[in-house]
Amino acid sequence: MRKKLLVGNWKMNKTPKEAYSFALNLNNVLEHTQLNNLDIGIAPTYLCLDVVRKNTTRNVLVFAQNVHFETQGAFTGEISSEMLKSIDVEGSIIGHSERRMYNNETSFSCNKKIKSLLKNGLIPLYCVGESESEFNANQTKNVIKKQINEGLKDLDEKEITQVIIAYEPIWSIGTGKNASSEIAESVCAFIRKEIAKLAPMAKDKIRILYGGSVKPNNIKEYLSLEDVDGALVGGASLKIESFTEMINALI
Ligand code: PGA
Repeated sequence: MRKKLLVGNWKMNKTPKEAYSFALNLNNVLEHTQLNNLDIGIAPTYLCLDVVRKNTTRNVLVFAQNVHFETQGAFTGEISSEMLKSIDVEGSIIGHSERRMYNNETSFSCNKKIKSLLKNGLIPLYCVGESESEFNANQTKNVIKKQINEGLKDLDEKEITQVIIAYEPIWSIGTGKNASSEIAESVCAFIRKEIAKLAPMAKDKIRILYGGSVKPNNIKEYLSLEDVDGALVGGASLKIESFTEMINALI
């Protein structure tokens, strides 16, 4: 059985002081909560990774929001997988649509980043999703198929099993226009089928999350779907109150 996963993507929010306060509050919540079949993750900015890692219990997974594929060198402004590993971060979001949009990230560069994380024993949380115009033109599955095949190119079955996929329709991110359960299930089931073609062994093990305007009042519905194993949450993960409400909805 796949363990459910709730990951908060903080994007470019919170100072280290604010992150520290959130971490202490989260510990407090977790101390009184039996998580059973649920994993919790937080993806702060680089600046707050260390403070979140050091001040949350080890069963909180800490993710970066991006990584560079090289080990070290003349890459101003970049951070490598080795560096993330050195501060006990568990993994990184890769290919978020905001990075694809504003930083020219492609599935080809995501593939190199995913390989560098896996080489260091870190978890890639690989985002895929279609734009509104692609959705309207009925292109969703073609777009996703390409993102999956390019992003996971040349990985072996064992490596693919380590990856977490997040399906995030771009038109639903931060817009309040969340995808219906039918859409979320249909696309996540499609992703699982595509994964099965690349790595039959990974099919039943790989975790597939839905993301896009997930809130305390709709998270349970998504997580009840057969092929949705968790949620990647932006806005509603920033306040400890709504993050706690989502945890409580899932346990
Ligand atoms: P949102 O963002 O929950 O604010 O829509 C989700 C995401 O970008 O991961």
